[in-house]
Amino acid sequence: MIDTDPGVDDAIALLMALSCPSMDIVGLTTTAGNVPVGPATRNTLAILESAGRADIPVARGATRPIRGRYAYARHVHSAEGLTYPLPPPETRTSDTGAVQFMAETLQANPGAVTLIALGPLTNLARLNRNRPSVLQLAKRVFVMGGAVGSPGNSTPHAEFNFYSDPTAARLVIESGVPITLIDMAPCRQVYLTKDDVEGARASTEAGNLAERLLSGWFRQDPTRERFYMYDPLTLVAAVDPNAIRFRSVTMTIDDSESTEDATLWGRCRVLDDAEGPIRVAEPKGVDVQASLRLIRELLGWS
Ligand code: RIB
Ligand code: CA
Repeated sequence: MIDTDPGVDDAIALLMALSCPSMDIVGLTTTAGNVPVGPATRNTLAILESAGRADIPVARGATRPIRGRYAYARHVHSAEGLTYPLPPPETRTSDTGAVQFMAETLQANPGAVTLIALGPLTNLARLNRNRPSVLQLAKRVFVMGGAVGSPGNSTPHAEFNFYSDPTAARLVIESGVPITLIDMAPCRQVYLTKDDVEGARASTEAGNLAERLLSGWFRQDPTRERFYMYDPLTLVAAVDPNAIRFRSVTMTIDDSESTEDATLWGRCRVLDDAEGPIRVAEPKGVDVQASLRLIRELLGWS
């Protein structure tokens, strides 16, 4: 189950997941983040339809964060969130909202479902607050977010997903649920250049769409040189346990409960660097070439 806010890198990650033989996607939940939840949900439905997988249920999620307001990143992903025009989706979302869908799916399949969160953690925080024991029914939880011991990409201290809803990030990170966190440090090492995209030869529809999205992203701003694979690397970590080496820590996230200095909101603070429920990547523990190979393989790029 993937919680997502498409967003171009989310779209690439979803296309990889849809092409991955070892993944059976039981459902997608959407959240505002890169764009408001309306476009994020439309994009999710459109991506599934483009891949011939309109059978996968989509449950619409968070409109607003637990506290504050979303920052959005339309300047990065385009006004509607994708850099290639997909036909407006014909399928509808599930009648069930994202939090209820997550709860029902995890309770019906205890210990069997891997949860991958690619956007702000609002849906997961609400699940944990409304149904405290349910999130830990997940087989594993992977989160793209945070900046542990490295600069952020939204502020000097905070990565976008955690900055967008720092209270949700704190509630999930402090929940005690084991989480594998793909933060800024590993993501800064795994990227595609404009030449990588121009040289891509896609053998699948998913790979073609990925190439079009990435070409559109580079065309949007000719000064762009690198497309960082934030969400695709999170997918890689869920598929290949050897791609990234992790260490276990205990952590909290600064939000308005912990500091009035809003420039610190979303900052990751490690409380115990030797043990805890959060697995963070060792800065030198990323197999960059293996990660890029798996991304290209799942996209059918040669
Ligand atoms: O900071 C990068 C993260 O924020 C990615 O998940 C991107 O899609 C945005 O949601
Ligand atoms: Ca995302």
